[in-house]
Amino acid sequence: MKIHPARRIRGRLALPGDKSISHRAAMLAAIADGQTRLSNFSTAEDCASTLNCLRQLGVSIERAGASVKVNGAGARGLRASAARLDCGNSGSTMRMLAGLLAGQDFVSELTGDDSLRSRPMRRVIEPLERMGASIASNDGRAPLRISGRQPLAPIRYEMKVASAQVKSCILLAGLNARGRTEVLEETGVTRDHTERMLRWFGFAVETLVERHGEASRSVIAIDGPARLKARDVMIPGDISSATFFIVAAALLPGSELLLEAIGLNPTRSQILSTLQTFGLDAQATNLREQSNEPIGDIRVGGNGVTATSGGEATNVLRGPVIARLIDELPALAVVGTQLPGGLEIREAEELRHKESDRISAMVCNLRAMGATVEEFDDGLRVGGRARLRGARLEAREDHRIAMACAVAALLAEGESEIAGAGCASVSFPEFFQLLEAVVER
Ligand code: S3P
Repeated sequence: MKIHPARRIRGRLALPGDKSISHRAAMLAAIADGQTRLSNFSTAEDCASTLNCLRQLGVSIERAGASVKVNGAGARGLRASAARLDCGNSGSTMRMLAGLLAGQDFVSELTGDDSLRSRPMRRVIEPLERMGASIASNDGRAPLRISGRQPLAPIRYEMKVASAQVKSCILLAGLNARGRTEVLEETGVTRDHTERMLRWFGFAVETLVERHGEASRSVIAIDGPARLKARDVMIPGDISSATFFIVAAALLPGSELLLEAIGLNPTRSQILSTLQTFGLDAQATNLREQSNEPIGDIRVGGNGVTATSGGEATNVLRGPVIARLIDELPALAVVGTQLPGGLEIREAEELRHKESDRISAMVCNLRAMGATVEEFDDGLRVGGRARLRGARLEAREDHRIAMACAVAALLAEGESEIAGAGCASVSFPEFFQLLEAVVER
């Protein structure tokens, strides 16, 4: 994919449905009683992997573009799949399905592509085994062979990594446990779409906040076994996909962009406040609620970076905001190259365990464009005010790296080429087409 520099971004877009919410809506609809219609379902390849796995487990699903009809199999309705369940590139599919399958009275095998088979799975194996499932793996990695148990034993589980996939996995297992399952995490850090979607499907989820001085911890509790009631879901536009457009428009002076009906869950919308602290203009408007998720429109005005944006000192992102920005950090590294003081991202070691090692990928790509970048075990520091040069960039088979590189290429002087850019379709097949529709040169 060849990308030429842009002058500015102008237009109005509605984006495909949120990937995280789409996975959850499909999985919960699959085990609900009755038929669910999912509107604006994500077009991501990852979400197609979820639908395919659910079909293999005996769930009848009809899809027409972004409209998906799921005939719920009910709490005891999933059936063993004769073939392995292929989760493709999708960590959410594998980790959340593992939770659902741990509580079935049959054996399932979950596998995925090379990237997914190299990602850490002990974080879900360990709690699921404590609940009574038995899981064989390739030294803590997929393929996972899950011998389920029904019912599972409930647990009280303190999360070791801030991960919504792990939290969701345990909650989904808890649906098939007899008694109270509790997950403990730092408050408001990981996305709470599973909790919201369970409530939407008529099932009670308790969230208790315990204060410890400055910090607070949440206990998320459910009482199993559960029965869910089918209910139509309207899925908001994906804010993590929106981020690439927001960042490009905010950085290119004279831009004007309106993104309609985007998910603004507070565990996902940190990107807007972070850009605002850098003096960039990205605002949420027309706030409302849809299927138990906050949504709104996002208006981005391109004042561009000024001499004072973010101040002269290096801006630092670390601590609880890291989990709230986890999928936005590659794009933020690009923002850092334009800020007077640059940007340091720390305590983000999790980035090394995503679809690629995202720290190494951004360090290499931004250096190739002439930015000054320092690499740390847990992050990176980008020196600011770089005049990026067009270069040959590597997507490393990671959708968010492909799209972050595309944004950097719009800001650069001269042409860039992104090798393997097609992997953007893992989360956002329409990305390059929509980008061309709003870029002015
Ligand atoms: C996701 C959670 C995050 C995120 C991923 C989607 C989810 O992963 O990076 O893109 O849908 O729950 P972790 O839970 O591993 O942090």
